Amino acid sequence: MSIEQIRQKLESIGQSQVLRFWDELDETGREKLLSQLQAMDLDAIPSLVDEYVIHKPRIALPDQIEPVKAYPWESSDPLYRQARERGQQLLRDGKVAAFLVAGGQGTRLGYDGPKGEYPVTPIKSKPLFQVFAEQLLAWGKCSGHPIPWYIMTSDINDGPTRTFFEKHQYFGYDRSLVRFFQQGMMPAFGMDGKMLLSAKDSLALSPDGHGGSLRALRKSGALEDMTRRGIEHLSYFQVDNPLVHVIDPLFLGLHDLTGSEMSSKTISKAHALEKVGNFCIGDGKLQVIEYSDLPEDLAKKTHGDGSLVFNAGSIAIHALRVSFIDRLTAAGTDLKLIWHRAEKKVPYVDPQGTLVKPESPNAVKLEQFVFDAIPLANNPIVYTTLREEEFSPVKNAEGADSPTTCRRDQIRRAARWLSESGVHIPMKDSEPDCVIEISPLFAINSEHLKTKDLLVKKIVPGQRIYFG
Ligand code: UD1
Repeated sequence: MSIEQIRQKLESIGQSQVLRFWDELDETGREKLLSQLQAMDLDAIPSLVDEYVIHKPRIALPDQIEPVKAYPWESSDPLYRQARERGQQLLRDGKVAAFLVAGGQGTRLGYDGPKGEYPVTPIKSKPLFQVFAEQLLAWGKCSGHPIPWYIMTSDINDGPTRTFFEKHQYFGYDRSLVRFFQQGMMPAFGMDGKMLLSAKDSLALSPDGHGGSLRALRKSGALEDMTRRGIEHLSYFQVDNPLVHVIDPLFLGLHDLTGSEMSSKTISKAHALEKVGNFCIGDGKLQVIEYSDLPEDLAKKTHGDGSLVFNAGSIAIHALRVSFIDRLTAAGTDLKLIWHRAEKKVPYVDPQGTLVKPESPNAVKLEQFVFDAIPLANNPIVYTTLREEEFSPVKNAEGADSPTTCRRDQIRRAARWLSESGVHIPMKDSEPDCVIEISPLFAINSEHLKTKDLLVKKIVPGQRIYFG
């Protein structure tokens, strides 16, 4: 669309204020603002504003909310043996790709760059991206088939993310297997529904949520690329959790054998109000209710023995069928994920051209969440994993889910794996009295470690030791 067409469109939807400074802008500024507006679905703005900005939609909770029945961590059921074999076969056949969502802002951690750059391991201080790359390298080697890796970034971190990978030679990963693509951006709206400018030549934009990944996979050509490579399943994970098993044959096998279009991993919640999504059956459909939306009385509801009724926490690890994403995003299909509304402090340029930094929330941001696709999937399943094995994210600068707790949990897991391989671990106050790091290139899980001929049989108190 030309600027004239855009101007008309903006007038017709009551948003012409965003061109208020157009006449003052130089060529570069005009190009920037125009391309932002061209990338946007302007026709959708009025209904979004009406539904989510002017009115505060009550998150429609299902009438009937029941706990979910998840597949257990381990089972002697023959299905588990078959699933493990199926998962390994899928990997050998090159039917699995890894999918990392890394487009978010990471504001809570207080780290400026892309979160994946954050140094996280206890001895080598490897960044999160490297931990994932090494796991994927190891799995590619084990299965004899390299694993394509799709990484979603956003306008706020795409350039720095690519530069970081370049600077580190892709951590040894074959760069032809790595495909970056950007998610969409959404404008912030003032409480009156008007789109805000962050500068005279720029809308106040932020990423459209990880739910936007489904649309972005299609739009960027990544989906087509997957089809060309014969990929059937995506192993989806977030950037903040170095304990994640980025590939898990059992989980992938269960997902495939049960005909599930979207599967998820769950852990037992640490406490009733832990800030994780809650798996439940709402009006007969599997779904995630975010911690902020689950009524407190339900979150705290217990069985007779004191255990939580809604105990299945979401750790944002999923397996998705490529055909499911294809179906949801096919031409002419409106991706039916609801928008989640958040009131935020968003700096903006006022009508006089002055930048205002508000001290209280002045704007509404809208995001879509990928787990809202679960009720749209056929046969979705939930599989139980263990917190100590697979979940210790870096979200906050201090306290829970911080670099300190994540480092502690990496050491605990490494100690447990080693102990399962017969290595003596010194303990002090019930914690390993040593600093251990196991490179994914050395062992990808406890079973793998058991196949190694370990020279170290005993770790001494206070020892720092890297298995690489
Ligand atoms: C998220 C989940 C929560 C889950 C928890 C587990 C949401 C809304 N909630 O919480 O249910 O229990 O993780 O750790 O996701 N991202 C993008 N683009 C975006 C927004 C986010 O790629 O537009 C990525 C981030 O880079 C990150 C992940 O999504 O990898 C999670 O985002 P974040 O906003 O940190 O979610 P949480 O509130 O921590």
